[in-house]
Order: sequence, then structure tokens, then C-alpha cells
Amino acid sequence: MTKTPICDFVRQYAAESPVRLHMPGHKGRPVLGPEPLDITEIDGADDLYLPRGIIAESERIAGSLFGADTYYSAEGSSLCLRAMLFLSMQAAEKPRNGARFCLLSGRNAHKTLLYTAALLDFDVAWLHPAADDGYQSCTVTAEGVERALANMKTPPFAVFLTSPDYVGNVTDLAAVAAVCRAHGLPLLVDNAHGAYLKFLEKSRHPLDLGAAMCCDSAHKTLPVLTGGAYLHLSSSWGKVTKNDVLSALSLFGSTSPSYLILQSLDAANPYLAALGERLAAFLPHVDALKETLTAAGYAVTGDEPMKVTVRPRARGYTGDALAALLRERDIVVEYHDPDVVVLMPTPQNTPDELCRVGRVLADIPPRSPISAAPPPYRKPMVRLSPRQALFAPRETVPAANAVGRVLADPAVSCPPAVPILSCGEIVDEAAAARFAYYGVQDLTVVKR
Ligand SMILES: Cc1ncc(COP(=O)(O)O)c(C=O)c1O
Repeated sequence: MTKTPICDFVRQYAAESPVRLHMPGHKGRPVLGPEPLDITEIDGADDLYLPRGIIAESERIAGSLFGADTYYSAEGSSLCLRAMLFLSMQAAEKPRNGARFCLLSGRNAHKTLLYTAALLDFDVAWLHPAADDGYQSCTVTAEGVERALANMKTPPFAVFLTSPDYVGNVTDLAAVAAVCRAHGLPLLVDNAHGAYLKFLEKSRHPLDLGAAMCCDSAHKTLPVLTGGAYLHLSSSWGKVTKNDVLSALSLFGSTSPSYLILQSLDAANPYLAALGERLAAFLPHVDALKETLTAAGYAVTGDEPMKVTVRPRARGYTGDALAALLRERDIVVEYHDPDVVVLMPTPQNTPDELCRVGRVLADIPPRSPISAAPPPYRKPMVRLSPRQALFAPRETVPAANAVGRVLADPAVSCPPAVPILSCGEIVDEAAAARFAYYGVQDLTVVKR
């Protein structure tokens, strides 16, 4: 039996119904419903950033399931990403001859990477996408990483990849990790979408493929409340200690982590212990849905097992139009844009639900194919560092009038929160076309 020490502690506390003269102010009296279980760091409840009791025990259990040194985040992968970048920068040698710290990263990074670059003041050298990658994707190969490293005057402090990406593409991390190892560099992976990959018949989890650290948003693919995430550290990297990780998380995290989220992470451990069998039973239904959609004339792309990325243009619909039709039929998708609709089923969905989605999509009448495609990516010009741009005086202008201006804030809505352009880069015609294509109307640019 997998233990749940945090849940047990809080349940017992709530059952005792003591007079609560501690935070939070709701005193355990229901407003939304879960307040009786919402506590703070009272005696016995441990401390997320100095865990010695129930949180330490629960994290140890999670770690043994992931085969890693595992830390909980109650503030999503966003917090873990900031901590990972800080830790790898701290562990690296200071660049010589006045050079600046630089990260080598796939272009399709979540916006948190840019915010962290600004906070910690490092530069980002990009691995650029292939011309036909959508802006959520960046095809990265081991050879590409090798080439990029050879072209850098100063070695980066780490290599950073996002895999799986928002539309279900998965990088060959083992091959990239081998290159990183040969160069003595840590591979950091944003595995926000892939917590479950550990529990496939053969693990496809980044740490098992050679990453030094990765983050998983537990809430994205596991039955965990929004905000629950893991930071995993590989024992093979050996450059940072447990105390370093805790202090990095607490550098960026709130001192009031949600105990509802911590309980949810704790409660996920028994689920993880049985997830292998659940996935083995569930994934054939996802495969069947993909086959139904392909037979109905939709393009289905990506090789992430649990994500269904539908490209409906050949069937005469934009992704946005298809998502609206699905909404009318009581089906709500994870993400849509002009090209794609992304569905994110998990074993918490029923096979019947997947069958219904397949039937509904297959019944949508085909129309003449739409041939439009996203404007191609063009390597942008860099004018300022992320920090200089993000901290500069700024103004908001219509995207159509922003050509020639320097982007100050990569703010893009979530999902997918992948910047079309990085802060510090010049808005050129190609970027403006992309902003228009994805419906971005206003940009925050550096004030002249
Ligand atoms: C690829 C990727 N990385 C990181 C994040 C941030 O994760 P969280 O919402 O858990 O903070 C997201 C969120 O959508 C994401 O898609």
C-alpha cells in the first residue's frame, strides 16, 4: 500500500475540528467546499522548503516512484523551471573574459524561460525551428545541438528543451543527452506535459533518457489539482545538493504553498503506483480515437501517446472553427488555433467519452480543404538582452504598427504561452505576420 502521509495528517486534523487560531482566515469553514482540508504550516504539517516530516516522507515516496530525487511544487512547473535554471546557472563555471551566462534552448520554450532569463540576467542562444514547425514546436536533433554548441564562442551553462511540446511532438532526448554529456553540460527538460511518460511500459521520462533535471506538471496529465508539479533531479548529475534545490524553490516560491495542492500530490502517489496498468488499458482507446479521426480525413500528428493533435484544414475547418463546433456539442478542447485542435485525454476520461468524441468529429461534414498555412518562421534580429528588454520603459502598441520596434514583454496568452518572439528581439515583417495569423492584436514594446 502506498502511503499518503500528508492526506492522513490533514484528514485527522479536520476530523478533530479544533479551534483554528491560525491561518487561513476561513478557519476551515466551507465557502467553496474544500476549506476544512486547507491548512497552513501548523505544528506537524511540515514545511515545503525545509521538509523533515510528512512532506519529506511523501516526496520520498514520489521519488521512489519516479526513480529520482523529487520535489513538490504547489506553483506549477513554472516554479520548477525558474528553480532549474537558477540551479544550473549556479552550478556552472562563471564565463571567462567578461562573457555573459548563456543558455542554449529550443525556441518553443514556455514564457517562464524568458522571464527567468530576465530575472537572472542570462542570454538565450536559440535552437531555431524548422521552417514548417508551428510556433509551438521546434524540431531538435542531436546533430543540431552539436552544431549549435560548435558555433557558440562561450559554452552555455545548460541545454534546455521542451518535450513533449504543446502539440505532442517528442524529442529524441537520449540522443541529445549523449551530446550534452560529451560536452559536460546538464540537459534540462521542460516535461510539463509528460509526467505520465515514466509509467509507460517502457519509460519515456526525461530522467530515464539522460536529463539532469526536469519538471512535470502533475496537474496536466495526472489527477492532481491545478498547480501541482514535480521537480526531478537525476542522481547522475551530482552538481547540486538537496539543500540547493530547496533553497532554489524557496527563492521563487510563495511561503504559503497550498496544502490542498500538496495533499493532491500526496494522493497521486497510490495512483502513480498503479498507473502502468491504467495506461496499458487506456492507451488503446486513445489509439482507436486517433485511427477514427485519421479514417475520417483529419490529419493527426505528434507522437506523444496520450495527446491527440488534430489538424482539420484538409477537412475544410480551421482549428478554431472545429473547437467551436465541439463546444456546441459539449466537448471542450485543451487548445485550438487556426491549424490545430489539441485534445488531452487521461485515464480519468472514460472510453465512452473518447468514442463519443470520435463519433462527433467523424460526423462533422467535410468541406473543401483550406490551404492556408502559418507564415514561415524567420530568425529574428536581437537588439537587447531579455533583462534589458523586460525591464525597459514600455508601451503597448497595435501589433500591426510594431514593425521595427523591440519587443519588451513576450506576453502571450496561455495556452500555449509559447512566445512568438522573444523579449529583446525586433518585430520584423515575418514576426508581424505571425502575430496577425495567431490573432495577437497588441504588443508591448520598448519605449523609444
Ligand atoms: C510546455 C509548458 N511548460 C511549462 C508550463 C507551465 O506549467 P504550469 O502551468 O504547471 O506552471 C506549461 C503550461 O502550460 C507548458 O505548457
